[in-house]
Amino acid sequence: MTQDKFLCDIGFIGLGVMGKNLVLNLADNGYNIAAFDLSDEKVQALIAQDEIENTTGTPRVYGCSSYTELLSQLKAPHLIVLSVPAGDPVDQICENLIGAGIQPDDIIIDTGNSLWLDTVAREKKYKSNFLLFSSAVSGGEVGARFGPSLMPSGSPYAWARVKPIWEAIAAKVDKKTGKPIERTQPGQVITDGEPCTTYIGPAGAGHYVKMVHNGIEYADMQIICEAYHVLKSALRLTCDEIADIFSQWNKGPLDSYLLEISVEVLRHKTKDTNTPLVELILDKAGQKGTGLWTAMSSLELGCPAPTIAQAVYARSISSFKELRTQASALLTGPQQTALPAAEQQEIIEQLHDAMYCAKICAYAQGFQLMKLAGKEHGWTLDFASIAKIWRAGCIIRAAFLQSITNAYQQNEHLDNLMLDDFFIKQLNERQLNWRKAICFATMQGVPIGALSSSLAYYDSMRCETLPANLLQAQRDFFGAHTFERIDKTPGKKYHVQWSTKDRETVVVDS
Ligand code: 6PG
Repeated sequence: MTQDKFLCDIGFIGLGVMGKNLVLNLADNGYNIAAFDLSDEKVQALIAQDEIENTTGTPRVYGCSSYTELLSQLKAPHLIVLSVPAGDPVDQICENLIGAGIQPDDIIIDTGNSLWLDTVAREKKYKSNFLLFSSAVSGGEVGARFGPSLMPSGSPYAWARVKPIWEAIAAKVDKKTGKPIERTQPGQVITDGEPCTTYIGPAGAGHYVKMVHNGIEYADMQIICEAYHVLKSALRLTCDEIADIFSQWNKGPLDSYLLEISVEVLRHKTKDTNTPLVELILDKAGQKGTGLWTAMSSLELGCPAPTIAQAVYARSISSFKELRTQASALLTGPQQTALPAAEQQEIIEQLHDAMYCAKICAYAQGFQLMKLAGKEHGWTLDFASIAKIWRAGCIIRAAFLQSITNAYQQNEHLDNLMLDDFFIKQLNERQLNWRKAICFATMQGVPIGALSSSLAYYDSMRCETLPANLLQAQRDFFGAHTFERIDKTPGKKYHVQWSTKDRETVVVDS
């Protein structure tokens, strides 16, 4: 196609799978795009795809071969979207755009999974050159094409410009039912429904929220994998049988995108041998870092997120394949025995409840973490709105997010999701089954770190008295770290002179 010169609404850099699909999504919604990638092949592939999909009769995408050309093809002030890997590539592009003449009132939107602290630093660093805005995208390639969940943050001035565009391309949920509105065809646009995007807060807040989304994603995935493991190893079910169970569960409170795709994965067979592909996939999990960042942040803030951390550890343990193979020949576990059908059915039901309760814990941890981070960094996060924009488009989308939305709409100050009436009821009704499923899996020797660490979290949270009294005494014994007493004035510090004969307790001046 000969490209006519026209001034575009948006510049786009980074035409990998996510970038290319975001461009086509923007184009479907009536925006003209000047697109650039260091690989000209990717630019050409985008133009070719747009020629197939574009039914408007006028060009929608202009392929550029340099940063300078990209800027020259845009309406001013320039709006440029980046879809590139987090880290150095973002800075390199920012520097290149400065070299190409970007202006202080131009906006660059980073849609990658950048570390939130990098985003805060970049906003400051580039302040005099351009406005750095960020908006992490969730939803994978299909989400990017037909409606992702978008978590924008940064300058409110930039948001005013970005908002109509973001609301147009985001996933939509039905205003009455809270359910996702399907959009599956190129050229299709959804103009009604609630868009899955909301302004999250100042620089860094959006990337932090996306990081926690991913931490929850890790936990959600691990919980499903552990259920699969129990069903496969302890109940000896086939992939098709497990898919049937998951598919059934997906009609109830566990209804989620991740469970839905797990069903599809479990049913998928190789063409040549008709074997479930999943059984041929090497059991070493990869990770790009967002789950780890979430766990690190929870440790730094002293906000427990054991299900999320355990999900990260599960990926790490999986990567020690050779060591695990060696240990499997040396370390014994329990003898696994086949169960009668009726007992199997009971275990399946218990496992369902265990998954649901563990999922509640994972979300409770994620939301509490965001709450603490918000306090720490001065962000006013609106948790009902965050839950709302995760109802569609993103990887953790699930019916369950409507219940979380309701919980925060009823009480915006909720300290922990487990204290919401709806979730109290769910946990109280299912906790016994949760324990039984964990006992069963443990006695069968199936590792269920996410399911069981969630239960420990639940039990710790509902335990009025924890053994930290002994721990404080130990600390005081070897390090004179002092302790408080429940029978004395709160805040007063005591120390026992453990090394002396009469071990006298003394009051310590703070
Ligand atoms: C999303 C995903 C997306 C990506 C993760 C995968 O919300 O669309 O979370 O961001 O798939 O980066 O992360 P891992 O490679 O760490 O599993």
